Amino acid sequence: MNYRNILLRGTTILKKNNLANADIDAECLLSYSLNKSRENILLNLDEKVNLTKFKNYISLIYRRRNKEPISHITKKRFFWKSDFFINNKVLTPRFETELLVEHILKIFRFSNRLNMIDLGLGSGCILISILKEKKQWVGTGVDLSKLAIKIAKNNAKIQQVYNRIRFINSDVDKYIDGKYDLVVSNPPYINKVGYNNLDASVKDYEPKSALYGGIDGYKIIEKVIKKSKCILKTKGILAMEIGIDQKYKSIKFLENNGFYVQKIIKDYQNIDRHIFAIKL
Ligand SMILES: C[S@@+](CC[C@H](N)C(=O)[O-])C[C@H]1O[C@@H](n2cnc3c(N)ncnc32)[C@H](O)[C@@H]1O
Repeated sequence: MNYRNILLRGTTILKKNNLANADIDAECLLSYSLNKSRENILLNLDEKVNLTKFKNYISLIYRRRNKEPISHITKKRFFWKSDFFINNKVLTPRFETELLVEHILKIFRFSNRLNMIDLGLGSGCILISILKEKKQWVGTGVDLSKLAIKIAKNNAKIQQVYNRIRFINSDVDKYIDGKYDLVVSNPPYINKVGYNNLDASVKDYEPKSALYGGIDGYKIIEKVIKKSKCILKTKGILAMEIGIDQKYKSIKFLENNGFYVQKIIKDYQNIDRHIFAIKL
């Protein structure tokens, strides 16, 4: 068997099970199982694979066939400019969240020193990506999940920003000290109906606590806004990700809590996704 045959086998199994990106998934899993880049595989399609490696690859294809996310199988996800260690205890970083990082870096392009906090740290993808770009910034990461904090610590060590982060295992609405120039948050914001209708590839594999935002989806958004009001300096910025159709109610919460909404950023699907608000 060569790479070409094995990829065809993998793609066919995934296509039969209606996986949308069957060919890309098959390539990613072969790359992972052989520990070779996708480019290397595609440039050497006639290269032979032994039976043991073939069986190992097919076992990964079967896991994907059962809708296990690629990031859980490979235990990593590329976000912004780096690979992050991921498992089923944290949300897999989403591509649209990179836009939050991009806009923060744009807004604060002239700020050399800054103290920021991430409410709902998860894998640490947002905070770590920003601190890697801004070598003199320091940050605090808060998460209710002990396991998420452990994973974020691990990612921070690998990416050499551990010494600039203070980790807090706490609920957002419990005591958090300090005054910050920037609060960033990607809170769980999916409502009850949305959660019940999630695809199995998300619902069966990612933690509910990272996705579900209460019956109306605003439970944690409200907590984040109220906490930000207390811990932000005057003129400090809250940069927060929201779900589909959550713009107007979020703006109302923000204005009722003394914020001026400066900017709303749309994602790749033209959905209002990130709110930037200034504490007055
Ligand atoms: C949507 S995930 C975001 C993770 C990561 N920041 C990202 O963008 O990929 C939300 C995170 O908030 C945490 N979380 C949920 N409710 C919380 C609460 N009340 N207080 C603190 N963290 C909370 C979850 O454990 C989860 O890690």
